[in-house]
Amino acid sequence: MPEISDGSVQLMVTSPPYPMIEMWDNVFASGDPKIAKLWQKLEDDGQDGTVRQIYDAMHDYLSQVWGETYRVLVDGGIACINIGDATRRLNGKFQLFPNHSRIIEVCEKIGFTTLPYILWKKPTTKPKYKGKGAFLGSGFLPPNAYVTLDCEFILLFRKGNLRKFPVHDPDRYGSAFTKSQRDEWFSQIWALKGTKQTSSELERRTAAYPEEIAERLIKMFSIKGDTVLDPFLGSGTTAKIAMQNERSSVGYETDQNLLPTLTKRIKNDKIVNNVQIIRR
Ligand SMILES: C[S@@+](CC[C@H](N)C(=O)[O-])C[C@H]1O[C@@H](n2cnc3c(N)ncnc32)[C@H](O)[C@@H]1O
Repeated sequence: MPEISDGSVQLMVTSPPYPMIEMWDNVFASGDPKIAKLWQKLEDDGQDGTVRQIYDAMHDYLSQVWGETYRVLVDGGIACINIGDATRRLNGKFQLFPNHSRIIEVCEKIGFTTLPYILWKKPTTKPKYKGKGAFLGSGFLPPNAYVTLDCEFILLFRKGNLRKFPVHDPDRYGSAFTKSQRDEWFSQIWALKGTKQTSSELERRTAAYPEEIAERLIKMFSIKGDTVLDPFLGSGTTAKIAMQNERSSVGYETDQNLLPTLTKRIKNDKIVNNVQIIRR
């Protein structure tokens, strides 16, 4: 993120493309030609080791962004990463790809301190049998049914020490949350619906997260006047909510087709603060 100076961002809130989730395969393959080659290799050799290499390469791709996030955050800045694990049948084998634990390991190596994370509990989908839609006839017989993934993670990290503020800083005091907000937001499980059925084609295509998630995280971990970064803007939920809450916003998006709608979505809200969208 060469356009962003070291130590100039107070908060990062994002949801990247999820490794090993099919809808993001092309994004990873076009972002890194090595990943496209590895998928070809898997077709040829059908080896579990190649599956592992693909998974590693997808996380290497994301890791560059976590490293840059560390650089641009201020001392005491917070990074919030919404990520889901993936289940997938490859080479005839059904397995879990635990994206959340891989990202924690990578971020700790970069230098971040891991903080207690949030589980976003989505409305339950049907349990799966052998990775397929329903439990079918033998769904009540042990031991070959799988637990359904109905939670995503909101991982939380801090760079360096606690942020320091002047005594009675009016921006900080003016950003206080209420007691009921504190009790609800700082508990570990958030039971929230996904984006609405009525969400736009753009929001579905980018797997947008609910505005409520961005709103809570921004109010929990930044104060008025701060700058909030989203390195994977998608439909621009983070930028829109940051600006509605008197924060500035900066972000990146590689899919150029999203830009006109993304810009319109942000402008439609008659937001006056700064937003800077940088194309990769
Ligand atoms: C899960 S979506 C983000 C959804 C977003 N939180 C929202 O509410 O709309 C991930 C986005 O990252 C974008 N993307 C993928 N690789 C990228 C990269 N290297 N730099 C910037 N954006 C990237 C994709 O095009 C996609 O729009």
